[in-house]
Amino acid sequence: MTVTSSEFLFTKLRCPVCGQAMDKKEASAICRGLSAHCFDFAKSGYLNLTAGHGGMGDLKDATDARHRFLSKGYYSILSDRIVELLSEAEPSSILDAGCGEGSYTNKLAAVAPVIGIDLSKSGILLAAKEAKRQSLPALYLVASLFTLPVANESFSAVTNLFAPCAEAEFCRILEENGLLLVVGAGKEHLMGLKRTLYDDPRINPGREDLPNTMQLIKKETLTGNIRVAKEDIEDLFAMTPYYFRTSKKDHDKLSGLEYLDTEIAFDLFLYRKN
Ligand SMILES: C[S@@+](CC[C@H](N)C(=O)[O-])C[C@H]1O[C@@H](n2cnc3c(N)ncnc32)[C@H](O)[C@@H]1O
Ligand SMILES: [Zn+2]
Repeated sequence: MTVTSSEFLFTKLRCPVCGQAMDKKEASAICRGLSAHCFDFAKSGYLNLTAGHGGMGDLKDATDARHRFLSKGYYSILSDRIVELLSEAEPSSILDAGCGEGSYTNKLAAVAPVIGIDLSKSGILLAAKEAKRQSLPALYLVASLFTLPVANESFSAVTNLFAPCAEAEFCRILEENGLLLVVGAGKEHLMGLKRTLYDDPRINPGREDLPNTMQLIKKETLTGNIRVAKEDIEDLFAMTPYYFRTSKKDHDKLSGLEYLDTEIAFDLFLYRKN
């Protein structure tokens, strides 16, 4: 009997309440524990396995903005490189921790069957709908990346893109020699946006939550320049952490622009579990 990608991914799930393996029965996932905890699949195919763990994740306005912006391909330099790096490693399964609205995750599905996890229901809904539309080998879960509802040593790669890094939890679910790819904003990322908004724009400090027990095997920075069309500038701004920290007076500076030229920069860190 051949095992489908969705059956393969499903075997990796563990009940978020009691830790037991789960079985799929019609439109539900039911654990093998004595209490038979039951979780229903949403119509779009995702599962909510939060079971009270974690908070809310990004809100709908932010995930919608990110979805529109990323669909235009402004960050294709990054998505192409992520797919390339993972392809070289030939993983048999990937978990994308903090996958948001799934633009990168659904691209990773071309490399290996992938589980995307995020606390944001609106993000997971967008991701799952797109995966279903394209029949991709991807399963989406609403869950916290600090308490991943998956088995020990069950993934050959974890990706963690612009989301909190839970090193101990990633190590738990990675197989021996498994890979972790962490991505964050590089120093010059969005300087053009910041120059427009602020009198005293600062460079990014870089990620401060990088793993410290895993072996760093590759580090690289991707840089480029993009021209953001007038209709995409607000979406870009709404994706950034500056959105809630910027005064209305500064925010209004964006409305008069015909386009925005800005640097983009991404730091990639590839680790191996030994
Ligand atoms: C900046 S977004 C990045 C999303 C996606 N990786 C991307 O690059 O487009 C950060 C994501 O982390 C999620 N997040 C934050 N804390 C989380 C947690 N404890 N567990 C799962 N997701 C979390 C947010 O909901 C949000 O979708
Ligand atoms: Zn259970």
